[in-house]
Amino acid sequence: MQLPVLEIDNLRPRYPIIQGGMAVRVSTAPLAGAVARAGGIGVIGATGMALAELEEEIRQARSLADGGIIGVNIMFAAQQFAELVHTSINAGIDVVFTGAGFSREIFQWGKETGTPIVSIVSSAKAAVLAEKCGAPAVVAEGFEAGGHLGTDRSVKEIVPQIVKAVKIPVIAAGGMVNGQDMADMIKMGASGVQMATRFVLSEECTVSDQFKQAYLQAQQEDVVIIKSPVGLPGRAIRNALVKRIELGQAPKPEECLHCLKKCSHEYCIIKALINSTEGRTDDGVIFSGQNVYKIKDILSVDEIFAKILNEYDQAQSIKKSE
Ligand SMILES: Cc1cc2nc3c(=O)[nH]c(=O)nc-3n(C[C@H](O)[C@H](O)[C@H](O)COP(=O)(O)O)c2cc1C
Repeated sequence: MQLPVLEIDNLRPRYPIIQGGMAVRVSTAPLAGAVARAGGIGVIGATGMALAELEEEIRQARSLADGGIIGVNIMFAAQQFAELVHTSINAGIDVVFTGAGFSREIFQWGKETGTPIVSIVSSAKAAVLAEKCGAPAVVAEGFEAGGHLGTDRSVKEIVPQIVKAVKIPVIAAGGMVNGQDMADMIKMGASGVQMATRFVLSEECTVSDQFKQAYLQAQQEDVVIIKSPVGLPGRAIRNALVKRIELGQAPKPEECLHCLKKCSHEYCIIKALINSTEGRTDDGVIFSGQNVYKIKDILSVDEIFAKILNEYDQAQSIKKSE
Protein backbone atom coordinates (compact mmCIF):
# COMPACT_ATOMS: atom_id res chain seq x y z
CA MET A 1 0.00 0.00 0.00
CA GLN A 2 1.45 3.34 -1.04
CA LEU A 3 0.43 5.96 1.46
CA PRO A 4 1.94 9.42 1.69
CA VAL A 5 3.77 10.19 4.93
CA LEU A 6 2.06 13.08 6.64
CA GLU A 7 4.55 15.31 8.43
CA ILE A 8 3.36 18.04 10.76
CA ASP A 9 6.62 19.45 12.12
CA ASN A 10 8.15 16.39 13.78
CA LEU A 11 4.83 14.50 14.11
CA ARG A 12 4.49 11.55 11.73
CA PRO A 13 1.29 9.51 12.25
CA ARG A 14 1.45 5.91 10.98
CA TYR A 15 -1.46 6.71 8.64
CA PRO A 16 -2.31 10.13 7.17
CA ILE A 17 -5.78 10.09 8.71
CA ILE A 18 -6.96 12.76 11.13
CA GLN A 19 -10.20 12.44 13.05
CA GLY A 20 -11.75 15.92 12.80
CA GLY A 21 -12.35 17.71 16.09
CA MET A 22 -16.04 18.01 16.97
CA ALA A 23 -17.18 20.56 19.50
CA VAL A 24 -19.49 20.29 22.45
CA ARG A 25 -18.41 16.79 23.45
CA VAL A 26 -18.85 14.94 20.18
CA SER A 27 -15.15 14.06 19.95
CA THR A 28 -13.93 13.29 23.46
CA ALA A 29 -11.09 11.23 24.96
CA PRO A 30 -12.35 7.68 24.13
CA LEU A 31 -12.62 8.48 20.41
CA ALA A 32 -9.46 10.59 20.17
CA GLY A 33 -7.46 8.02 22.17
CA ALA A 34 -8.64 5.13 19.98
CA VAL A 35 -7.83 6.99 16.74
CA ALA A 36 -4.35 7.87 18.03
CA ARG A 37 -3.76 4.24 19.05
CA ALA A 38 -4.92 3.05 15.62
CA GLY A 39 -2.22 5.18 13.97
CA GLY A 40 -4.06 8.37 13.02
CA ILE A 41 -4.30 11.70 14.84
CA GLY A 42 -7.11 11.74 17.42
CA VAL A 43 -8.60 15.15 18.09
CA ILE A 44 -10.60 16.35 21.09
CA GLY A 45 -13.18 19.04 20.28
CA ALA A 46 -12.24 21.54 23.00
CA THR A 47 -14.80 24.24 22.20
CA GLY A 48 -17.51 24.25 24.85
CA MET A 49 -15.42 22.48 27.50
CA ALA A 50 -14.48 23.95 30.87
CA LEU A 51 -10.71 24.27 31.32
CA ALA A 52 -10.44 21.58 34.04
CA GLU A 53 -12.58 19.24 31.91
CA LEU A 54 -10.32 19.78 28.91
CA GLU A 55 -7.22 19.02 30.99
CA GLU A 56 -8.83 15.78 32.16
CA GLU A 57 -9.89 14.84 28.60
CA ILE A 58 -6.32 15.32 27.35
CA ARG A 59 -4.99 13.20 30.21
CA GLN A 60 -7.51 10.43 29.48
CA ALA A 61 -6.93 10.48 25.72
CA ARG A 62 -3.17 10.28 26.30
CA SER A 63 -3.63 7.23 28.57
CA LEU A 64 -5.62 5.46 25.83
CA ALA A 65 -3.39 6.49 22.92
CA ASP A 66 -0.51 4.05 23.48
CA GLY A 67 2.02 6.67 22.40
CA GLY A 68 -0.12 7.90 19.47
CA ILE A 69 -0.72 11.53 18.53
CA ILE A 70 -3.39 13.60 20.29
CA GLY A 71 -4.61 17.02 19.16
CA VAL A 72 -7.28 19.52 20.13
CA ASN A 73 -9.58 21.56 17.91
CA ILE A 74 -10.42 25.05 19.15
CA MET A 75 -12.74 27.46 17.35
CA PHE A 76 -11.49 31.05 17.22
CA ALA A 77 -15.15 32.13 17.52
CA ALA A 78 -15.25 30.81 21.11
CA GLN A 79 -15.02 33.42 23.88
CA GLN A 80 -12.54 31.22 25.79
CA PHE A 81 -10.31 30.65 22.75
CA ALA A 82 -7.03 31.84 24.34
CA GLU A 83 -7.63 30.02 27.65
CA LEU A 84 -8.45 26.76 25.86
CA VAL A 85 -5.27 27.04 23.74
CA HIS A 86 -3.05 27.76 26.78
CA THR A 87 -4.64 24.95 28.79
CA SER A 88 -4.04 22.48 25.94
CA ILE A 89 -0.43 23.58 25.46
CA ASN A 90 0.27 23.42 29.21
CA ALA A 91 -1.23 19.91 29.29
CA GLY A 92 1.33 18.88 26.64
CA ILE A 93 -0.94 18.54 23.62
CA ASP A 94 0.86 17.38 20.45
CA VAL A 95 -0.92 19.66 17.96
CA VAL A 96 -3.64 22.35 17.91
CA PHE A 97 -6.13 22.65 15.03
CA THR A 98 -7.93 25.97 14.78
CA GLY A 99 -10.68 27.33 12.53
CA ALA A 100 -13.90 29.40 12.46
CA GLY A 101 -11.92 32.65 12.29
CA PHE A 102 -8.20 33.42 12.17
CA SER A 103 -5.82 34.25 15.00
CA ARG A 104 -2.25 35.44 14.33
CA GLU A 105 -1.44 35.38 18.05
CA ILE A 106 -1.86 31.61 18.37
CA PHE A 107 1.21 31.06 16.16
CA GLN A 108 3.31 33.03 18.64
CA TRP A 109 2.03 30.85 21.50
CA GLY A 110 2.83 27.76 19.41
CA LYS A 111 6.37 28.99 18.63
CA GLU A 112 7.12 29.78 22.27
CA THR A 113 6.23 26.23 23.33
CA GLY A 114 7.13 24.20 20.22
CA THR A 115 3.48 23.24 19.62
CA PRO A 116 2.43 22.90 15.95
CA ILE A 117 -0.59 25.07 15.09
CA VAL A 118 -2.58 23.83 12.08
CA SER A 119 -5.12 26.20 10.52
CA ILE A 120 -8.36 25.01 9.00
CA VAL A 121 -8.83 27.02 5.81
CA SER A 122 -11.15 27.07 2.83
CA SER A 123 -9.19 29.18 0.32
CA ALA A 124 -5.68 29.49 -1.11
CA LYS A 125 -5.46 33.03 0.29
CA ALA A 126 -6.09 31.85 3.86
CA ALA A 127 -3.69 28.92 3.39
CA VAL A 128 -0.89 31.27 2.27
CA LEU A 129 -1.53 33.49 5.31
CA ALA A 130 -1.39 30.46 7.64
CA GLU A 131 1.90 29.31 6.05
CA LYS A 132 3.40 32.81 6.48
CA CYS A 133 2.33 32.84 10.14
CA GLY A 134 4.15 29.52 10.71
CA ALA A 135 1.56 26.76 10.24
CA PRO A 136 3.41 23.48 9.48
CA ALA A 137 0.30 22.18 7.62
CA VAL A 138 -3.23 23.28 6.76
CA VAL A 139 -6.56 21.48 6.69
CA ALA A 140 -8.39 22.41 3.47
CA GLU A 141 -12.05 22.09 4.38
CA GLY A 142 -14.71 22.12 1.65
CA PHE A 143 -18.45 22.67 1.63
CA GLU A 144 -19.14 18.94 2.13
CA ALA A 145 -17.98 19.11 5.78
CA GLY A 146 -20.15 18.94 8.87
CA GLY A 147 -20.55 21.72 11.42
CA HIS A 148 -19.80 25.37 10.65
CA LEU A 149 -18.72 26.03 7.08
CA GLY A 150 -16.25 28.59 5.74
CA THR A 151 -16.99 28.18 2.04
CA ASP A 152 -19.57 27.23 -0.55
CA ARG A 153 -16.93 25.48 -2.69
CA SER A 154 -16.26 21.75 -2.93
CA VAL A 155 -13.18 20.17 -1.35
CA LYS A 156 -12.37 18.88 -4.86
CA GLU A 157 -12.16 22.45 -6.10
CA ILE A 158 -10.16 23.97 -3.22
CA VAL A 159 -7.60 21.19 -2.56
CA PRO A 160 -5.74 21.48 -5.91
CA GLN A 161 -5.69 25.30 -5.58
CA ILE A 162 -4.34 25.18 -2.02
CA VAL A 163 -1.75 22.49 -2.88
CA LYS A 164 -0.48 24.79 -5.65
CA ALA A 165 -0.39 27.87 -3.39
CA VAL A 166 1.63 26.51 -0.41
CA LYS A 167 4.69 24.33 0.27
CA ILE A 168 3.37 22.83 3.52
CA PRO A 169 1.29 19.61 3.63
CA VAL A 170 -2.41 19.99 2.82
CA ILE A 171 -4.95 17.79 4.61
CA ALA A 172 -8.27 17.47 2.75
CA ALA A 173 -11.53 17.60 4.74
CA GLY A 174 -15.21 17.37 3.90
CA GLY A 175 -17.44 14.53 2.77
CA MET A 176 -14.88 11.72 2.91
CA VAL A 177 -16.30 8.48 4.26
CA ASN A 178 -14.16 5.71 2.71
CA GLY A 179 -10.76 4.75 1.28
CA GLN A 180 -11.77 5.58 -2.30
CA ASP A 181 -12.49 9.18 -1.17
CA MET A 182 -9.08 9.25 0.51
CA ALA A 183 -7.36 7.96 -2.66
CA ASP A 184 -9.10 10.67 -4.74
CA MET A 185 -7.84 13.41 -2.42
CA ILE A 186 -4.28 12.05 -2.34
CA LYS A 187 -4.30 11.96 -6.13
CA MET A 188 -5.19 15.66 -6.06
CA GLY A 189 -2.05 16.36 -4.02
CA ALA A 190 -3.34 16.13 -0.45
CA SER A 191 -0.87 14.68 2.09
CA GLY A 192 -3.66 13.33 4.26
CA VAL A 193 -7.36 13.47 5.02
CA GLN A 194 -9.48 14.65 7.93
CA MET A 195 -12.70 12.72 8.52
CA ALA A 196 -15.28 13.48 11.19
CA THR A 197 -18.73 12.10 10.30
CA ARG A 198 -17.35 8.57 9.72
CA PHE A 199 -15.90 8.58 13.25
CA VAL A 200 -19.18 9.64 14.90
CA LEU A 201 -20.49 6.25 13.80
CA SER A 202 -17.89 4.44 15.87
CA GLU A 203 -18.32 2.44 19.06
CA GLU A 204 -15.91 4.77 20.86
CA CYS A 205 -17.71 8.04 20.02
CA THR A 206 -19.52 9.10 23.21
CA VAL A 207 -22.58 10.85 21.70
CA SER A 208 -26.04 9.50 22.57
CA ASP A 209 -27.48 6.55 20.71
CA GLN A 210 -30.23 8.88 19.40
CA PHE A 211 -27.52 11.01 17.75
CA LYS A 212 -26.00 7.94 16.05
CA GLN A 213 -29.44 6.66 14.98
CA ALA A 214 -30.19 10.04 13.35
CA TYR A 215 -26.97 9.59 11.34
CA LEU A 216 -27.86 6.02 10.34
CA GLN A 217 -31.38 6.98 9.27
CA ALA A 218 -30.45 10.16 7.37
CA GLN A 219 -31.25 10.20 3.65
CA GLN A 220 -29.34 12.40 1.21
CA GLU A 221 -32.15 15.00 1.15
CA ASP A 222 -32.20 15.27 4.95
CA VAL A 223 -28.75 16.89 5.12
CA VAL A 224 -29.25 20.65 4.96
CA ILE A 225 -27.57 24.00 5.56
CA ILE A 226 -28.80 26.09 8.47
CA LYS A 227 -28.03 29.58 9.75
CA SER A 228 -26.01 29.40 12.96
CA PRO A 229 -25.97 32.25 15.51
CA VAL A 230 -22.14 32.15 15.16
CA GLY A 231 -22.65 34.02 11.87
CA LEU A 232 -21.63 31.09 9.67
CA PRO A 233 -23.75 28.53 7.83
CA GLY A 234 -23.76 25.05 9.36
CA ARG A 235 -24.47 21.61 7.91
CA ALA A 236 -26.93 19.50 9.91
CA ILE A 237 -29.57 16.80 9.62
CA ARG A 238 -33.11 18.11 9.21
CA ASN A 239 -35.17 17.34 12.33
CA ALA A 240 -37.85 19.08 14.41
CA LEU A 241 -35.58 21.90 15.64
CA VAL A 242 -33.95 22.44 12.24
CA LYS A 243 -37.43 22.84 10.68
CA ARG A 244 -38.16 25.56 13.28
CA ILE A 245 -34.79 27.23 12.54
CA GLU A 246 -35.61 27.21 8.81
CA LEU A 247 -38.94 28.95 9.53
CA GLY A 248 -37.24 31.49 11.82
CA GLN A 249 -39.20 30.01 14.75
CA ALA A 250 -36.40 28.53 16.88
CA PRO A 251 -36.79 29.14 20.63
CA LYS A 252 -34.93 32.25 21.83
CA PRO A 253 -32.15 31.64 24.39
CA GLU A 254 -33.48 31.52 27.96
CA GLU A 255 -30.11 32.42 29.46
CA CYS A 256 -26.80 33.35 27.87
CA LEU A 257 -23.39 32.06 28.92
CA HIS A 258 -21.66 34.44 26.47
CA CYS A 259 -19.74 31.49 25.04
CA LEU A 260 -19.16 33.11 21.63
CA LYS A 261 -17.27 36.29 20.73
CA LYS A 262 -20.16 37.18 18.39
CA CYS A 263 -23.66 35.68 18.51
CA SER A 264 -26.92 36.68 16.83
CA HIS A 265 -28.92 35.22 19.78
CA GLU A 266 -31.50 33.84 17.33
CA TYR A 267 -31.31 30.58 19.28
CA CYS A 268 -28.69 29.04 21.56
CA ILE A 269 -26.38 26.91 19.40
CA ILE A 270 -24.51 25.47 22.41
CA LYS A 271 -27.74 24.33 24.05
CA ALA A 272 -28.95 22.85 20.76
CA LEU A 273 -25.68 20.92 20.33
CA ILE A 274 -25.70 19.69 23.94
CA ASN A 275 -29.32 18.52 23.51
CA SER A 276 -28.36 16.34 20.57
CA THR A 277 -25.21 14.83 22.11
CA GLU A 278 -27.21 14.01 25.25
CA GLY A 279 -30.09 12.39 23.33
CA ARG A 280 -32.76 15.12 23.20
CA THR A 281 -32.41 15.20 19.43
CA ASP A 282 -35.83 16.75 18.70
CA ASP A 283 -34.62 19.86 20.52
CA GLY A 284 -31.09 19.58 19.22
CA VAL A 285 -28.96 20.45 16.19
CA ILE A 286 -27.22 17.37 14.79
CA PHE A 287 -24.23 18.54 12.77
CA SER A 288 -23.06 16.09 10.09
CA GLY A 289 -21.11 15.93 6.85
CA GLN A 290 -22.87 15.86 3.47
CA ASN A 291 -22.19 12.16 2.88
CA VAL A 292 -23.50 10.80 6.18
CA TYR A 293 -26.19 8.85 4.30
CA LYS A 294 -23.48 6.67 2.71
CA ILE A 295 -22.43 5.21 6.09
CA LYS A 296 -24.48 2.20 7.12
CA ASP A 297 -22.73 0.82 10.19
CA ILE A 298 -21.35 1.57 13.62
CA LEU A 299 -17.86 0.05 13.84
CA SER A 300 -14.96 0.16 16.25
CA VAL A 301 -12.22 2.66 15.41
CA ASP A 302 -9.86 -0.23 14.59
CA GLU A 303 -12.44 -1.64 12.14
CA ILE A 304 -12.93 1.80 10.54
CA PHE A 305 -9.17 2.08 9.98
CA ALA A 306 -8.92 -1.45 8.54
CA LYS A 307 -11.87 -0.77 6.21
CA ILE A 308 -10.56 2.59 4.97
CA LEU A 309 -7.04 1.23 4.40
CA ASN A 310 -8.40 -1.81 2.56
CA GLU A 311 -10.61 0.38 0.34
CA TYR A 312 -7.66 2.69 -0.27
CA ASP A 313 -5.55 -0.30 -1.31
CA GLN A 314 -8.25 -1.49 -3.71
CA ALA A 315 -8.56 1.98 -5.23
CA GLN A 316 -4.77 2.01 -5.77
CA SER A 317 -4.70 -1.42 -7.47
CA ILE A 318 -7.61 -0.46 -9.76
CA LYS A 319 -5.69 2.69 -10.70
CA LYS A 320 -2.52 0.65 -11.45
CA SER A 321 -4.38 -1.83 -13.68
CA GLU A 322 -5.98 0.99 -15.73
C1 LIG B 1 -20.73 16.98 14.80
C2 LIG B 1 -19.64 17.80 14.20
C3 LIG B 1 -19.03 18.79 14.96
C4 LIG B 1 -17.95 19.53 14.43
N1 LIG B 1 -17.32 20.45 15.21
C5 LIG B 1 -16.21 21.12 14.74
C6 LIG B 1 -15.47 22.00 15.58
O1 LIG B 1 -15.75 22.16 16.75
N2 LIG B 1 -14.41 22.64 15.03
C7 LIG B 1 -14.03 22.46 13.72
O2 LIG B 1 -13.05 23.06 13.28
N3 LIG B 1 -14.71 21.61 12.91
C8 LIG B 1 -15.77 20.93 13.40
N4 LIG B 1 -16.43 20.03 12.59
C9 LIG B 1 -15.86 19.74 11.26
C10 LIG B 1 -14.98 18.48 11.29
O3 LIG B 1 -13.89 18.60 12.16
C11 LIG B 1 -14.47 18.06 9.89
O4 LIG B 1 -13.48 18.91 9.39
C12 LIG B 1 -15.53 17.91 8.84
O5 LIG B 1 -16.77 17.53 9.38
C13 LIG B 1 -15.06 16.88 7.82
O6 LIG B 1 -16.11 16.43 7.01
P1 LIG B 1 -16.84 15.02 7.26
O7 LIG B 1 -17.58 15.17 8.54
O8 LIG B 1 -17.73 14.87 6.08
O9 LIG B 1 -15.78 13.98 7.34
C14 LIG B 1 -17.52 19.30 13.09
C15 LIG B 1 -18.17 18.31 12.34
C16 LIG B 1 -19.20 17.55 12.87
C17 LIG B 1 -19.84 16.49 12.03
